[in-house]
Amino acid sequence: MGKTALITGAAGFIGSHLVDRLVSDGYTVVGIDDLSSGKQANLPDQFDLRVMDIRDPEVRDVIAEIRPDFVFHLAAQISVSVSAREPQLDADVNIGGALNLFEGIRALGDKPTKVVYVTSGGTAYGEPKVLPADESTTTHPLSPYGASKLAVETYLPIYERLCGLEYSIVRLANIYGPRQDPHGEAGVVAIFARAMLGGKLLTIFGDGNDERDYVYVGDVVEAIVKLGENNETGPFNIGSGVGTSTNRIFEILAQNCGHDADAVHGPAREGDINRISLDATRIEKQLGWVPQVSLEEGLKSTVNWFRLQTP
Ligand SMILES: NC(=O)c1ccc[n+]([C@@H]2O[C@H](COP(=O)([O-])OP(=O)(O)OC[C@H]3O[C@@H](n4cnc5c(N)ncnc54)[C@H](O)[C@@H]3O)[C@@H](O)[C@H]2O)c1
Repeated sequence: MGKTALITGAAGFIGSHLVDRLVSDGYTVVGIDDLSSGKQANLPDQFDLRVMDIRDPEVRDVIAEIRPDFVFHLAAQISVSVSAREPQLDADVNIGGALNLFEGIRALGDKPTKVVYVTSGGTAYGEPKVLPADESTTTHPLSPYGASKLAVETYLPIYERLCGLEYSIVRLANIYGPRQDPHGEAGVVAIFARAMLGGKLLTIFGDGNDERDYVYVGDVVEAIVKLGENNETGPFNIGSGVGTSTNRIFEILAQNCGHDADAVHGPAREGDINRISLDATRIEKQLGWVPQVSLEEGLKSTVNWFRLQTP
């Protein structure tokens, strides 16, 4: 019998790429998403999407109905600044939603279900002194979003004891690629690419020398699928190990978009991290994962995709 996977946040940026991959690998895939930022258009025709909030008790009914072999948990309140303004809402969605899901799995009794929990490495480690940060780095979230995403990691071994839940934790760097929402406040590549192609002036928050670790979405999906198929709990960093400044991202995108206006610099944003890069040696050694797509190649294909979307 084929395997059944539930993907929360299925209509979102990373979730929808995971849907494509698992469908093509022959899984029966069901999605949950409230479409708050995700889009139906990101999903294949006839895809089985249950439009609901991750906090809704009906989530547990879906789990009881489909009895998934795998649950990939990606639905989240992902905005750092929303989390700073409304920490309770952030915790409600990110912690409360995850527990709702885990309770649904617990109610399945002996059915083995593997959870792959997708979280953020950058916000978990904060501003570590040693870069790139590996998984032994002390966690030190600087935003309620970082705290809520990290808190869920601490519940997973507890659920393992409570009900034998199997899990892997994936701590992502900054992910970019086609379908990333350019209207949000996270996802500098999507925001810049869309604005440049629309001929708009751009603001860089701070001096632009802040550095993040960028990984192409296709590489991330590969890592998530590998972790689904293995029994390693992690946490596993998914990063390139290299920090790239916002100014450099601007420069490469400007070349690809034919954008020749300089950026305007605005004040730095509260809760944003100054310098981060993630050491992914653990997943490389244990599962042979290394990113395949260079930043230049990935940014080029992302711009090509945004070009097709721009009227
Ligand atoms: N994109 C990145 O750089 C990055 C980095 C680190 C971690 N992550 C994590 O990866 C996951 C996916 O992020 P993404 O970049 O694809 O963002 P996204 O916003 O595109 O995806 C999140 C999805 O969750 C859905 N959602 C939000 N709140 C919901 C709720 N209450 N109930 C049901 N669905 C809800 C949204 O509609 C959206 O489709 C998140 O858990 C995020 O924390 C992403």
